Parts: sequence; C-alpha cells; structure tokens
Amino acid sequence: MRAGNRWWWTAAALAASLVVGSAQDARRPDEGPGGAVRPRVEFRARTLPNSPTEAKILEVLDDMFRNQRRGSMSVPPEDGRILRLLTEAIGAKHVVEIGTSVGYSGLWMALALTSTGGKLTTFEIDPGRAARARENFARAGVTNIVTIIEGDAHTTVQQIQDSIDLLFLDADKEGYIDYLNKLLPLVRPGGLIVAHNMTERMAHPPFVQAITTNPALETIFINLETSGIGITMKKR
Ligand SMILES: C[S@@+](CC[C@H](N)C(=O)[O-])C[C@H]1O[C@@H](n2cnc3c(N)ncnc32)[C@H](O)[C@@H]1O
Repeated sequence: MRAGNRWWWTAAALAASLVVGSAQDARRPDEGPGGAVRPRVEFRARTLPNSPTEAKILEVLDDMFRNQRRGSMSVPPEDGRILRLLTEAIGAKHVVEIGTSVGYSGLWMALALTSTGGKLTTFEIDPGRAARARENFARAGVTNIVTIIEGDAHTTVQQIQDSIDLLFLDADKEGYIDYLNKLLPLVRPGGLIVAHNMTERMAHPPFVQAITTNPALETIFINLETSGIGITMKKR
C-alpha cells in the first residue's frame, strides 16, 4: 500500500471507531444491548423491623446514631448491620465484644441475639462510657441478655469461661493480638473473630500476621477503603 493510501485508511478507521464509540456512549445508562430499557436497580436496602422488639431496638440505634456519635467512636451503621447479620447467620449464642463504648455496635449484635436466644458479654475500660451503654441497653430492652464488664479487658477477659461464637475486637488496636491469644481457645470451631479498623493506618501488623498465617484460620478483609473489617473463621 502506498504511503498516501495508508494514511487515508488509518484516518477512515479512526473516524469509524469514533462514530461507533459515540453511538455507544449516547446510550442511556439504563439502556441494555439492542436499546431495551431496563429498570434501574436500587441498592439502598434498609433494616426493616420484623417485630415490636426489633422496632424498639432500631429506634434506640437510630437515636444513638443521631445524638450520641460525637466522641463515642462507634462503628458506622453499615458495619453495625454487618455485625448483626454475621451474629444472626451463625446462630450465635455467645458474643464477646472488646470495646463497648456507649453500646452502639453491641446493640446491633443484641438485635441479632434476641432472635438466636443468645447473650452478649462486652468489655469497657471507661466508666462513663460503660454507664451510657448501660442506659442505652436498658431503654432498648436488652438488659437481660447483656453483661458489661468494666475495667481493663486485658485482665478482665480472664473471667470468660463459656465458649464464644463471635468475638468482636474494637478497642486498643495494639491489644488485638493479646485478646486473640487469650480468647481464641474459647472460640468454637466455625466461630468468628471480627476485627474493626483493619486499615493500612490503624491495623496492628502482628495481629494481621496472626490471623493471616495460621492455617487453622480463614480470614478475609472487607471495606478496606472505609473502616476496614477483618472476618476470621476458626476452621472446624
Ligand atoms: C472504638 S471504641 C468502641 C466502639 C464500639 N464498639 C461501638 O462501635 O459502639 C473503643 C472503646 O474501647 C475502650 N477500650 C480501650 N482500651 C480498652 C481496654 N484495655 N479494655 C477495655 N476497653 C478498652 C475505649 O474506652 C473505647 O470506649
């Protein structure tokens, strides 16, 4: 092909691809192949109460989210929903939480425990936050299934004797490895260890190493771009 011809064919091919490309780009986002219009998918799913008990707990959670977030360092609602879902899906009878704060994440798990017939043991070092948590659990009507243990959890976790279905770590990040070493023997086979703040900035490397290099554990990380959650299963 002569140089002049080659230039003409290249220019024609480029022009044709631009025409095809712009025709595709002109499609509306809800337009499928062949121009068929498909309805938009709405992925905004809310937690819908299934009973008066659930409605009361969700009301308190909503109030806590709107009025008690400042200084409480509570998980975001999306993470609370993940905790609830995991707790209920594994039929947890005993959840242990390290880092109660004012009880927001604990209440999400208590919501699940009202269905599974389980209980929550939650640890908090700050007496003021523990008192707020006690009030919140009381007005949500879950006092009978929640035990708050005040003090330094590195020592007080020794009080736990019962098997654990789900262990939620959300206190001092450098302490996660110590909590894991102390409580992993009590986590039942098939049970979960959920660790909050598993982000580049906040995660403590020895803990991450411990949950990712032990063949007896299966770990995944989700929401790494936001709050970062490690979900570890103790294999059966
Ligand atoms: C991130 S906040 C917990 C938030 C809570 N899980 C929620 O989402 O509602 C961490 C809490 O851990 C508590 N904490 C820190 N070190 C602790 C320790 N050694 N023993 C018990 N609690 C501790 C802090 O006082 C704080 O209230």
